[in-house]
Amino acid sequence: MTVVCRFTPDVTAAAAEGDRVTLRTVPFGELVVTSDHPGLLLALRDGVAETALAPVADILARLVEGRLIEWLVAAADGATLLVVEARDGGFAPAPAAAAPAGAVLSRFAYFHREGEALVLDSAGVPARARLDPAHLAVPAVADLLWRCGLMVAADAAEQPLWSLHDRLFHAMTRFGRDAEALGALDPGRGVIDPPPALAALPDGPAIVLPAAASGPVLLRRRRSGREWSDEAMPLAALSAWLAQALAVIEELPAGPDGLVRLRRPYPSGGALSALVAELAVDRIEGLRPGYYRYDEAGHGLVAHRGSEAAAAAAITAAAGATAGRRPAALLRLTLRHDRVAWRYAGLPYRLALLEAGAALQTLSLVAGHLGLAACILGTGPAAPEVDQGAVPLAEIAVGVAGQA
Ligand SMILES: Cc1cc2nc3c(=O)[nH]c(=O)nc-3n(C[C@H](O)[C@H](O)[C@H](O)COP(=O)(O)O)c2cc1C
Repeated sequence: MTVVCRFTPDVTAAAAEGDRVTLRTVPFGELVVTSDHPGLLLALRDGVAETALAPVADILARLVEGRLIEWLVAAADGATLLVVEARDGGFAPAPAAAAPAGAVLSRFAYFHREGEALVLDSAGVPARARLDPAHLAVPAVADLLWRCGLMVAADAAEQPLWSLHDRLFHAMTRFGRDAEALGALDPGRGVIDPPPALAALPDGPAIVLPAAASGPVLLRRRRSGREWSDEAMPLAALSAWLAQALAVIEELPAGPDGLVRLRRPYPSGGALSALVAELAVDRIEGLRPGYYRYDEAGHGLVAHRGSEAAAAAAITAAAGATAGRRPAALLRLTLRHDRVAWRYAGLPYRLALLEAGAALQTLSLVAGHLGLAACILGTGPAAPEVDQGAVPLAEIAVGVAGQA
């Protein structure tokens, strides 16, 4: 049994004229490629053994980039045993290899129903498989699942402190799988009416509360700011923002569990304080553009070498997620997941998100206090842009306030 590649259903038509092959695709419209092997490319409509595709490897790589290829294993009678779909552009099974004896399903793989099909999906790799679980023991099926990371060695460690539900929530709610819709796309439109601004009150008797004095003016004045000026942010303003919102206030003596806890300006589940701040700098006086790690204990910044392009991409993404202007900096809270998961079973990711919310409000209020404009972002990548040893969790863009 060989692995066969074919176009996904997103390629709706393919035709060749001489060495020009025209593909009609759902996501990209018409694509025209030139090849000395047009027949081989057209054959992808029905499927071609992957071993026969070497002559069109470069074009195949571009099709893989666009998620236009899927991989199949068929039985001798022609029945399809397995179809693998990429969930992110560029994903392809690793080079041909046999699954080692005793390989098992990854603990981040899970079956669920989609339409009428049973799908083996994964929180760990951006790939999914359509197959009957009865076929898992077929060697060729296991080999392809192994190559995709859906099967692993029986003794694979597989991030033991990450649960399937936490890893899945992380993977599916941040960028990194272009097959998944993510963002303000109105998925409820046409499904239900727009829900009202206020939830209905219960039927019980209403009690009018006495008039209350308004609280701290900082809270009432807090606004998300996106109209950043082109000015560089003064280093002193950055320093004040980080010191007042994030710096460690006190280190607490280790408890009986051996964990040292920290007090910081915002609350932290169990005082574990496992959020790390990474700063992508565009224009801050005295700092070269790039990524910096905030040293929350020593109140300093440590540059990530060679991170200029990654920081520029993060700033561009932040501009795209707001009003289109480039913030002076993007602060990303990243999560040292294992520190929380070492202590708390079942809910470490939830605790970290709650903590990030508290930190983001603190960062917003301190920015307002300092006269800076800051805006929390709802989107960000799932994987680190620089090697931070922690997963990206929450983002806030900041800069000198410009004209509203
Ligand atoms: C979780 C969260 C995600 C947000 N995501 C974005 C975003 O991606 N882009 C943006 O421009 N504003 C974003 N905002 C800011 C909100 O749009 C803003 O808080 C809201 O419009 C209320 O305005 P205010 O903060 O000025 O009171 C986000 C806010 C929160 C709390």
